[in-house]
Amino acid sequence: MDQVTNNLLIELEKTQHDFWNISRETANFLSILIKSTQRKNMLEIGTSNGYSGIWFAKALKETGGKFTTIEFYDKRQSLAKEYFKQCKIDDIATFLQGSAVEVLENMPENQEFDIVFIDANKREYIKYFKLTDKMLKKGGIIVADNVLSHAEKVKEFVDEIDADERYQVQVLNLPAGLLLAYKISD
Ligand SMILES: C[S@@+](CC[C@H](N)C(=O)[O-])C[C@H]1O[C@@H](n2cnc3c(N)ncnc32)[C@H](O)[C@@H]1O
Repeated sequence: MDQVTNNLLIELEKTQHDFWNISRETANFLSILIKSTQRKNMLEIGTSNGYSGIWFAKALKETGGKFTTIEFYDKRQSLAKEYFKQCKIDDIATFLQGSAVEVLENMPENQEFDIVFIDANKREYIKYFKLTDKMLKKGGIIVADNVLSHAEKVKEFVDEIDADERYQVQVLNLPAGLLLAYKISD
């Protein structure tokens, strides 16, 4: 990680509870996952101030990939855009503003991603899953944060993806609980 990005991430960690950012451990784990599996096209649902996105887009810069992220609060999105410029990752990023379900419903028919990170409204995880499943091909990965910290709210989603034979699922005991699902077949 370059010095400017590293310093910014350390600064942002001071307000991580105000912006509901993922933990550093989770971010670092996902950065390794993106690089080691050579992900090229990532969707994030829930940008906040861009903390997780900085980790992801930095990793995607190394794989030659692209990053798309959705947020409905323009103030948070503006902060994220500014930080992405500082870290020189704005050239591979697309910021979409609006309610995630509506934004997903309005994506082109042929939209594809090879990794989707779910981290917005917990009760809507099930909807995000249903809407992004068709954008993921065999070999794609869905990741969702807060599956242990908000177990009750995300139960319907976790039960559904766990019972889906097209996905191989594991919940990792990282802070907040991280669900990882690998798409075995279309
Ligand atoms: C947990 S925070 C995301 C944290 C970010 N991924 C990180 O780790 O830096 C969730 C974000 O999702 C946004 N959000 C919540 N519900 C949403 C919705 N229905 N559509 C779009 N954004 C939403 C919130 O405004 C908030 O900024």
